[in-house]
Amino acid sequence: MAVRLGDEAPNFSADTTQGRIDFHKWKGDSWVVLFSHPKDFTPVCTTELGTVAGLKSEFDKRHTKVIGLSVDPVDSHMKWEGDIKDVTGHAVNFPMIADPDRKVSTLYDMIHPNASDTLTVRSVFIIGPDNKVKLTLTYPASTGRNFQEILRVIDSLQLVARQPVATPADWKPGQDVIISNNVSDEEAKKKFPKGFTTRKPYLRVTPEPGR
Ligand code: BEZ
Repeated sequence: MAVRLGDEAPNFSADTTQGRIDFHKWKGDSWVVLFSHPKDFTPVCTTELGTVAGLKSEFDKRHTKVIGLSVDPVDSHMKWEGDIKDVTGHAVNFPMIADPDRKVSTLYDMIHPNASDTLTVRSVFIIGPDNKVKLTLTYPASTGRNFQEILRVIDSLQLVARQPVATPADWKPGQDVIISNNVSDEEAKKKFPKGFTTRKPYLRVTPEPGR
């Protein structure tokens, strides 16, 4: 069954490049990015894993743990990590789940049989401290993901978890945000002391709080 927004992220036990884990115990109350790759020793995946390894400090700043998955076994992941370092200059610094029996891939609906009945698609799940799924993304094998976009979504999710706001199209941290419609103008005046602009009765914008 598909894992949808607001669902509890299913728990599992699995072997990883950093030992066996119980997913929920490993996760604790962190934010998590769980992302799948079709197969080891493939070109697009190699660039993706190096890119994510190079962004470790950005994920750390956001209290976010990263975990990858591919359907190959741990010893294959370990050998592949050498290539990833060679090609990208970044050593993989997060666990990679080995899923040769497709147990985790099936649990998270990462195999889309009309794309491939053996390999996982490029799935991304962002999971909150409450273990609820906050974002899902699915990319085809041929398109590498934009991890700056993943960081941008984490920034938005973490902001809206703290404040009654939403973020507009192409928002970046530091730009104006939208005040939630369940906040009255009176409340907004108190909550957002920098003021707000009413573009339409349903669209009020204010500088990002806390900046
Ligand atoms: C890749 O990572 O380049 C890839 C993986 C599976 C199928 C096609 C491309």
